[in-house]
Amino acid sequence: MTTTFQAPPGTRDFFPEQMALRRYIEDTWRQVSLRHGFLEVDGPTFEFLDLYKVKSGDEIVSQLFHFESRADKEGRADEFALRPEFTPTLARMIAAKANALPRPIKWFSIPRCYRAERPQKGRLREFIQWNVDMLGGETPEARRQFDLEVAALCLDCLREFGLGNNEVRLLWNDRQLVEELFKLAGVPAERYGFAFYLLDRVAKLNAEQRAALYVENGITDREREFFNQLAAGRHPLASGFWDALGPAGGQAVAEFQAYSQRVSACQQTVESTLGLMGFPGYAQYDASIVRGLAYYTGFVWEISDVRRENRALAGGGRYDRLIEMFGGPSLPATGFGMGDVVLANLLEECGKLPKDLARGPAPQVFIVNALSTPDAALNLLGSLRTAKIAAGTSYKTTKNIGKLLQEASASGAKWAVILAPAEWERGVVKLKNLATREEKEIPVGEVATAVRAVQ
Ligand code: HAM
Repeated sequence: MTTTFQAPPGTRDFFPEQMALRRYIEDTWRQVSLRHGFLEVDGPTFEFLDLYKVKSGDEIVSQLFHFESRADKEGRADEFALRPEFTPTLARMIAAKANALPRPIKWFSIPRCYRAERPQKGRLREFIQWNVDMLGGETPEARRQFDLEVAALCLDCLREFGLGNNEVRLLWNDRQLVEELFKLAGVPAERYGFAFYLLDRVAKLNAEQRAALYVENGITDREREFFNQLAAGRHPLASGFWDALGPAGGQAVAEFQAYSQRVSACQQTVESTLGLMGFPGYAQYDASIVRGLAYYTGFVWEISDVRRENRALAGGGRYDRLIEMFGGPSLPATGFGMGDVVLANLLEECGKLPKDLARGPAPQVFIVNALSTPDAALNLLGSLRTAKIAAGTSYKTTKNIGKLLQEASASGAKWAVILAPAEWERGVVKLKNLATREEKEIPVGEVATAVRAVQ
């Protein structure tokens, strides 16, 4: 009896075609990071479960794949979780070595991550996530520059993939500005965490799901109005929200106007700094962006496709308290993550996937063997490959030079080396340019030198 298996839902097999796309994505991420002066790091695929509970509490556990180690002699077992993201690992690593690391710290990583999600478009249980983080910055100006430097790096990489401001937008907000808004709306400080959570959720739900969430959390009508307006990316001022405050409303409106001016000033800084770095016309303030992860403390942003049809392509922001929370020094930090799944979907939708990825690179030279044994061809193949020349040959039995030359051309090689009996007896082979059909004889021992000379 045979049993067939499938890959678990939400995971992927990487056949050569998918692997070539993955390599293309990862190589581009890596090249752009290095070009911007970031160094590559990595950590373990699984961590102690507590690492994720510290900031997000017990409710995070249901979103993780977690397991226990075998118990030791005293019956004690460790609880681990597959990493759902890289930021806690990075914070742990930096907390342990912060004082020995030159500032600013500029790191990137390309980990596989695991989330116990219900698989759907753009959302898998196993995915690859490019992370870029920059730590340090002594003044608010330096920190704002770091925020925008990593955002510009992200946009630079997307441009490298062929996605410009016709395809993507950088939607930003600032959690400190949102906190001011919560304060103006009378949200008590101890409820800010919950209000951020609610705002992040509400912005992603349809009307029915939203209503259920409000009921579940005992949200009043006035609070609903506040969250609905924010989730739609609008200021609650426009909705007459403040009228309900009666005479106190005038003061609130004035405060709100001052708040709106701060948002405009911030928008100007974001737009002009990104413009200076070569990315004008990308940034857009969006009151609904607060980010679901609890550690963000300031500037937050997401990259969205202009039609907003996919989930966010990338997301990140400032998290100034996480390193300290993991026992390190007080060290401001900012960064983002971009997933390979949403990126590949968008590249496909926009017709930006490079063609012929699956074929792999063509050999530089193709050996056409018309001799009666494979020995000479194998020996030549070995010596060319040892000389770091990409060489290929046919695996067919035919000795028909015409057919073998067709195969050589189809392989994409520029040159063919022809081993034919008459020349072989004279100690020479033919080097043929497959595009121009020109050929010349060269001594058997000089093939590598000759191929190198014509590259
Ligand atoms: P995140 O918003 O959870 O942020 O994830 C960032 C990106 O990873 C998303 O925009 C999406 O492209 C991809 N992603 C997340 N979950 C999945 C999934 N289940 N399937 C496919 N792709 C997914 C973070 O993870 C932060 N740690 C990023 C960060 C780094 N912030 C500061 N530094």
